[in-house]
Amino acid sequence: MVAISASLLAANFAELGNEVRAAEQAGCDEIHFDVMDGVFVPNLTVGAPVLTSLRPHTSLPVEAHMMVKEPSRFIKTFKLAGADIFTVHAESCDDLKATLSEIRLGGLRPGLAINPETPLSEIENVLPCADRVLVMTVNPGFGGQQFMESMLPKIQALRFMLDNLKLGTDLAVDGGISSLTARRVARAGADTLVAGSALFNGPGTIDGRVAAFRAALTALDQ
Ligand code: DX5
Ligand code: ZN
Repeated sequence: MVAISASLLAANFAELGNEVRAAEQAGCDEIHFDVMDGVFVPNLTVGAPVLTSLRPHTSLPVEAHMMVKEPSRFIKTFKLAGADIFTVHAESCDDLKATLSEIRLGGLRPGLAINPETPLSEIENVLPCADRVLVMTVNPGFGGQQFMESMLPKIQALRFMLDNLKLGTDLAVDGGISSLTARRVARAGADTLVAGSALFNGPGTIDGRVAAFRAALTALDQ
Protein backbone atom coordinates (compact mmCIF):
# COMPACT_ATOMS: atom_id res chain seq x y z
CA MET A 1 0.00 0.00 0.00
CA VAL A 2 1.24 3.48 -0.84
CA ALA A 3 1.91 5.56 2.29
CA ILE A 4 0.72 9.14 2.78
CA SER A 5 3.02 11.60 4.56
CA ALA A 6 1.53 14.90 5.76
CA SER A 7 3.80 17.90 5.15
CA LEU A 8 3.26 20.41 7.95
CA LEU A 9 4.45 23.29 5.79
CA ALA A 10 0.84 23.85 4.74
CA ALA A 11 -0.59 23.41 8.25
CA ASN A 12 -1.62 26.21 10.61
CA PHE A 13 1.56 26.79 12.62
CA ALA A 14 -0.40 28.22 15.54
CA GLU A 15 -2.24 24.91 15.76
CA LEU A 16 0.50 22.40 15.01
CA GLY A 17 -0.42 19.98 17.80
CA ASN A 18 -4.03 19.81 16.62
CA GLU A 19 -2.94 19.60 12.98
CA VAL A 20 -0.71 16.52 13.51
CA ARG A 21 -3.40 14.84 15.62
CA ALA A 22 -5.94 15.49 12.86
CA ALA A 23 -3.55 14.13 10.22
CA GLU A 24 -2.99 10.96 12.25
CA GLN A 25 -6.71 10.49 12.92
CA ALA A 26 -7.47 11.00 9.23
CA GLY A 27 -5.22 8.04 8.43
CA CYS A 28 -1.92 9.58 7.34
CA ASP A 29 1.04 7.24 7.78
CA GLU A 30 3.81 9.73 8.49
CA ILE A 31 4.52 13.37 9.37
CA HIS A 32 6.85 15.35 7.09
CA PHE A 33 8.67 18.19 8.83
CA ASP A 34 10.21 20.69 6.42
CA VAL A 35 13.31 22.47 7.71
CA MET A 36 14.57 25.43 5.63
CA ASP A 37 17.51 27.70 6.40
CA GLY A 38 16.99 30.58 3.97
CA VAL A 39 20.34 29.72 2.35
CA PHE A 40 19.99 26.33 0.69
CA VAL A 41 16.45 27.39 -0.22
CA PRO A 42 15.07 30.95 -0.29
CA ASN A 43 12.73 30.43 2.67
CA LEU A 44 12.83 29.87 6.42
CA THR A 45 10.77 27.51 8.51
CA VAL A 46 11.30 25.90 11.89
CA GLY A 47 13.86 23.74 13.66
CA ALA A 48 14.28 21.09 16.33
CA PRO A 49 12.61 22.96 19.25
CA VAL A 50 9.32 22.95 17.36
CA LEU A 51 9.63 19.23 16.71
CA THR A 52 10.36 18.62 20.40
CA SER A 53 7.09 20.35 21.33
CA LEU A 54 5.19 18.54 18.62
CA ARG A 55 6.50 15.02 19.20
CA PRO A 56 4.13 14.07 22.07
CA HIS A 57 1.14 14.86 19.84
CA THR A 58 1.66 11.98 17.42
CA SER A 59 2.83 8.40 17.40
CA LEU A 60 3.48 8.51 13.64
CA PRO A 61 7.04 8.41 12.32
CA VAL A 62 8.47 11.85 11.55
CA GLU A 63 10.72 12.65 8.61
CA ALA A 64 12.86 15.77 8.94
CA HIS A 65 13.35 17.07 5.39
CA MET A 66 16.52 19.12 5.80
CA MET A 67 16.64 21.88 3.19
CA VAL A 68 19.72 23.38 4.83
CA LYS A 69 23.43 23.72 4.18
CA GLU A 70 25.63 21.18 5.97
CA PRO A 71 22.73 19.26 7.49
CA SER A 72 24.97 16.92 9.50
CA ARG A 73 25.30 19.75 12.07
CA PHE A 74 21.75 18.96 13.14
CA ILE A 75 21.72 15.15 13.40
CA LYS A 76 22.04 15.09 17.18
CA THR A 77 19.43 17.76 17.89
CA PHE A 78 16.87 16.17 15.57
CA LYS A 79 17.46 12.75 17.09
CA LEU A 80 16.84 14.28 20.53
CA ALA A 81 13.76 16.08 19.20
CA GLY A 82 12.27 12.74 18.12
CA ALA A 83 12.77 12.56 14.36
CA ASP A 84 12.84 9.08 12.80
CA ILE A 85 14.07 9.77 9.27
CA PHE A 86 16.64 12.49 8.60
CA THR A 87 16.59 13.39 4.93
CA VAL A 88 19.41 15.43 3.43
CA HIS A 89 19.77 16.89 -0.04
CA ALA A 90 22.37 15.44 -2.39
CA GLU A 91 23.07 19.06 -3.40
CA SER A 92 23.85 20.17 0.17
CA CYS A 93 26.52 17.65 1.20
CA ASP A 94 30.19 17.52 0.21
CA ASP A 95 30.56 13.87 1.13
CA LEU A 96 27.16 12.27 0.77
CA LYS A 97 28.25 8.78 1.74
CA ALA A 98 29.88 10.04 4.95
CA THR A 99 26.81 12.12 5.83
CA LEU A 100 24.43 9.18 5.32
CA SER A 101 26.50 6.91 7.53
CA GLU A 102 26.80 9.67 10.15
CA ILE A 103 23.00 9.87 10.21
CA ARG A 104 22.71 6.11 10.73
CA LEU A 105 25.37 6.13 13.44
CA GLY A 106 23.41 8.93 15.08
CA GLY A 107 20.42 6.63 15.43
CA LEU A 108 18.30 8.07 12.62
CA ARG A 109 17.21 6.54 9.33
CA PRO A 110 19.05 8.25 6.47
CA GLY A 111 17.01 9.76 3.68
CA LEU A 112 18.38 11.27 0.48
CA ALA A 113 16.52 14.04 -1.37
CA ILE A 114 17.21 15.15 -4.93
CA ASN A 115 16.18 18.36 -6.63
CA PRO A 116 14.43 18.23 -10.00
CA GLU A 117 17.55 19.19 -11.95
CA THR A 118 19.79 16.63 -10.22
CA PRO A 119 20.19 13.46 -12.29
CA LEU A 120 19.93 10.01 -10.70
CA SER A 121 23.52 9.34 -11.76
CA GLU A 122 24.57 11.73 -8.93
CA ILE A 123 23.17 9.42 -6.25
CA GLU A 124 23.42 5.98 -7.85
CA ASN A 125 26.55 4.95 -5.95
CA VAL A 126 25.15 5.89 -2.53
CA LEU A 127 21.70 4.30 -2.90
CA PRO A 128 22.61 1.36 -0.61
CA CYS A 129 23.39 3.86 2.19
CA ALA A 130 19.90 5.43 2.23
CA ASP A 131 16.66 4.04 3.67
CA ARG A 132 14.66 6.49 1.56
CA VAL A 133 15.08 8.53 -1.60
CA LEU A 134 12.91 11.65 -1.72
CA VAL A 135 12.36 12.75 -5.30
CA MET A 136 11.45 16.44 -5.48
CA THR A 137 8.73 17.18 -8.01
CA VAL A 138 8.95 20.95 -7.39
CA ASN A 139 11.94 23.15 -6.64
CA PRO A 140 12.19 23.03 -2.85
CA GLY A 141 11.41 26.08 -0.74
CA PHE A 142 7.68 26.63 -0.97
CA GLY A 143 4.45 24.70 -0.71
CA GLY A 144 1.59 24.96 -3.16
CA GLN A 145 3.65 24.72 -6.35
CA GLN A 146 2.63 22.82 -9.42
CA PHE A 147 3.68 19.18 -9.78
CA MET A 148 6.38 18.78 -12.46
CA GLU A 149 5.05 16.13 -14.83
CA SER A 150 8.51 15.90 -16.37
CA MET A 151 9.68 14.13 -13.18
CA LEU A 152 7.56 11.01 -13.86
CA PRO A 153 10.25 9.29 -15.98
CA LYS A 154 12.78 9.98 -13.21
CA ILE A 155 10.54 8.27 -10.64
CA GLN A 156 10.14 5.31 -13.02
CA ALA A 157 13.88 5.11 -13.60
CA LEU A 158 14.60 5.20 -9.87
CA ARG A 159 12.02 2.45 -9.25
CA PHE A 160 13.77 0.35 -11.87
CA MET A 161 17.18 1.08 -10.35
CA LEU A 162 16.13 0.19 -6.78
CA ASP A 163 14.41 -3.02 -7.92
CA ASN A 164 17.42 -3.98 -10.01
CA LEU A 165 19.75 -3.48 -7.08
CA LYS A 166 17.28 -5.42 -4.90
CA LEU A 167 17.21 -2.57 -2.40
CA GLY A 168 14.27 -2.11 -0.04
CA THR A 169 14.79 1.67 -0.14
CA ASP A 170 11.56 3.64 0.20
CA LEU A 171 10.83 5.79 -2.85
CA ALA A 172 9.11 8.98 -1.69
CA VAL A 173 7.90 11.89 -3.81
CA ASP A 174 7.47 15.48 -2.58
CA GLY A 175 5.89 18.50 -4.25
CA GLY A 176 2.55 19.22 -5.86
CA ILE A 177 1.00 15.91 -4.88
CA SER A 178 -2.79 15.93 -4.77
CA SER A 179 -5.48 13.31 -5.19
CA LEU A 180 -5.25 14.15 -8.90
CA THR A 181 -1.51 13.58 -9.31
CA ALA A 182 -1.19 10.83 -6.64
CA ARG A 183 -2.26 8.10 -9.00
CA ARG A 184 0.29 8.85 -11.71
CA VAL A 185 3.06 9.14 -9.12
CA ALA A 186 2.13 5.83 -7.49
CA ARG A 187 1.89 4.18 -10.91
CA ALA A 188 5.39 5.41 -11.68
CA GLY A 189 6.61 3.47 -8.64
CA ALA A 190 6.40 5.68 -5.53
CA ASP A 191 6.03 4.04 -2.12
CA THR A 192 5.34 7.23 -0.17
CA LEU A 193 3.54 10.40 -1.22
CA VAL A 194 4.31 13.62 0.64
CA ALA A 195 1.52 16.19 0.48
CA GLY A 196 1.06 19.58 2.14
CA SER A 197 -1.49 21.89 0.53
CA ALA A 198 -3.69 19.08 -0.73
CA LEU A 199 -4.09 17.69 2.79
CA PHE A 200 -4.21 20.81 4.96
CA ASN A 201 -5.93 23.34 2.67
CA GLY A 202 -9.12 23.44 0.66
CA PRO A 203 -12.78 22.76 1.29
CA GLY A 204 -14.03 20.08 3.67
CA THR A 205 -12.00 18.33 6.34
CA ILE A 206 -8.63 16.60 6.37
CA ASP A 207 -10.54 13.30 6.77
CA GLY A 208 -12.24 13.92 3.44
CA ARG A 209 -9.00 14.89 1.74
CA VAL A 210 -7.14 11.82 2.97
CA ALA A 211 -10.10 9.71 1.89
CA ALA A 212 -9.87 11.26 -1.58
CA PHE A 213 -6.19 10.25 -1.73
CA ARG A 214 -7.01 6.71 -0.63
CA ALA A 215 -9.80 6.47 -3.20
CA ALA A 216 -7.45 7.62 -5.96
CA LEU A 217 -4.85 5.09 -4.86
CA THR A 218 -7.35 2.24 -4.51
CA ALA A 219 -8.48 2.81 -8.07
CA LEU A 220 -4.87 2.14 -8.96
CA ASP A 221 -5.16 -1.50 -7.91
CA GLN A 222 -8.21 -2.10 -10.07
C1 DX5 B 1 8.69 22.00 -0.54
C2 DX5 B 1 8.56 21.02 0.59
C3 DX5 B 1 7.34 20.19 0.52
C4 DX5 B 1 6.07 20.98 0.53
C5 DX5 B 1 5.11 20.28 -0.34
O1 DX5 B 1 9.96 22.53 -0.57
O2 DX5 B 1 9.66 20.16 0.65
O3 DX5 B 1 7.33 19.17 1.51
O4 DX5 B 1 5.50 21.12 1.79
O5 DX5 B 1 3.99 21.09 -0.40
P1 DX5 B 1 2.86 20.85 -1.47
O6 DX5 B 1 2.29 19.50 -1.19
O7 DX5 B 1 1.92 21.97 -1.19
O8 DX5 B 1 3.50 20.92 -2.82
ZN1 ZN C 1 9.44 18.45 2.02
